[in-house]
Amino acid sequence: MDSKQAISETIAKYEQYINPSMARLLRFMGFSSVEWEAEGSIIRDLDGNEYIDCLGGYGVFSLGHRHPKVVKAVKQQLDRMPMSSKVLFNMPMADLAEQLAKITPGDLQYSFFVNSGTEAVEGALKLARIHTGKTKVVSTVNAFHGKTFGSLSATGRDMFKDPFFPLLDGFVHVPFGDIGAMEKAMDEDTAAVIIEPIQGEGGIIVPPDDYLPTIRDLCNKKNILLICDEVQTGLGRTGKMFAVDHYGVVPDILTTAKALGGGVMPLGAYVARPQIYEKYITSPFLHTSTFGGNPLACAAGITTIQVLQEEGLIQKAAVTGEKMLGALRKMAEAFPDVVKEVRGKGLMIGVELTKEGIGGFLMSELIAEGILVAYTLNNPKVMRIEPPLAINDELVNRVVNAFARAVEKAQEIVEDL
Ligand SMILES: Cc1ncc(COP(=O)(O)O)c(C=O)c1O
Repeated sequence: MDSKQAISETIAKYEQYINPSMARLLRFMGFSSVEWEAEGSIIRDLDGNEYIDCLGGYGVFSLGHRHPKVVKAVKQQLDRMPMSSKVLFNMPMADLAEQLAKITPGDLQYSFFVNSGTEAVEGALKLARIHTGKTKVVSTVNAFHGKTFGSLSATGRDMFKDPFFPLLDGFVHVPFGDIGAMEKAMDEDTAAVIIEPIQGEGGIIVPPDDYLPTIRDLCNKKNILLICDEVQTGLGRTGKMFAVDHYGVVPDILTTAKALGGGVMPLGAYVARPQIYEKYITSPFLHTSTFGGNPLACAAGITTIQVLQEEGLIQKAAVTGEKMLGALRKMAEAFPDVVKEVRGKGLMIGVELTKEGIGGFLMSELIAEGILVAYTLNNPKVMRIEPPLAINDELVNRVVNAFARAVEKAQEIVEDL
C-alpha cells in the first residue's frame, strides 16, 4: 500500500469508527498526515515529512521520543515479565516508589501507581476524603484535572462539565491567583484544596510568587489538605523537578503522570505524606488498580528519573526555557495586535493571542513549516509550547523564527480572524 492510500484509509477509519468531527477538525487545522515514527524532538509522518514536536503529547515527551535508555529498560522488562502477578512482590514498583519519595519534596513518601493523570487525581481526592472524613474540595476556575467524574468535578471549565451533571458534590471553584477568594472558600467542611502550581490547560498561568506558599499556610491553619496536581508541571518541565520546588511548598498529596513514563509507557502516581496515608495502611485494599504499577511502566518510570538527573535535563529546561521565552517575548513586542503576552516557566510556555481565531491560523501556518503546536484545552487563545527538555538551540531558533513568520502573516489578516 502506498502512503497516499494508507493516509486516506486511516482518515476514513477515523471518520467511520472513531469520530467524524474529530477527523474533520484535525484536517481543518492542517493535521492531515499520519504519524509514523519519532526520535528525540522530531516526529516523522508516513510520507517522511519531519515535524519539530513542540506540543510534546501535552507534556508527555519531556525526554523526547523513544529515549534509548527508556526503550532499553522497557524491552528488558518486556522480555522478562511485563505485567505483575499482583501477589508476589514487584521490584520495579518498589524501586520507583523509593525514587519518587527521594525526588518529591519534604516527607512525601507513599506512592500509589496508576495509568493516567486523571486516575492520579481520582486517587488523591479519595485519599483526602478518607483521611479527613470531609467532602468539600476547593479548586480553581479554569483548572484542568482530568475528565473522569471526580477529576472532572475538580476541573474548572463548564463546557466539559455541564453535559455530565450531577458531578461530585462539594466542589467550589475560585479564581486562580486570588488568595482572598481562596481563603473565603476554605471552611470547616473543606477536606482539600486541589491546585496546579502553574495552570496548564487553563492557559499556562503562572501565579504570583506568594500564592502557593500562602495557600500552604492557610491549609495548615485550617487543617485542610493541599493536593498539588503536577501531572503536567512535574518532572523538570518548569525547570525544577516539581513546580512546587520553585515556591518551597510541600503538598500533602502530589499527583504526577504524563512525563513519568518517559514518553514510552503510560504511568501516573499520587504520592502522600505518611500521616495522610494512615487509613490506607490499615486497609490496603480500599483503593486498588489492576494495571497500576505494572513492571513495564515502572521500568520506564525508574529510567525516566535516572535520565532526568544524569543528563541534567531539568537545568537544560530552565536555561532553554529562559532563552525561548526571551526570544518569543521580543518577537511578540513587534506584533501587539496579534500577541497579548508570552509567559511561562522553563519549557512550559504559553503565547496568549489577542483573539481566539488566531490560534487555528497559527497552528496551520506552523504545521506547514514542520512544527507541531496546539492551544490549551481550557483556553483556545493560548498556544502552548512544551518541547522535549533537551531540545537543541538550532531547533529552538527554527521554532521561534517560524512563529515570527506566522505571527507576521496573522498581523496582515488579523481583522478577519
Ligand atoms: C494538571 C493535569 N491534571 C490531570 C490531567 C489529566 O491527565 P490524563 O489526560 O492523563 O488523564 C491533565 C491533562 O492534561 C493535566 O494537565
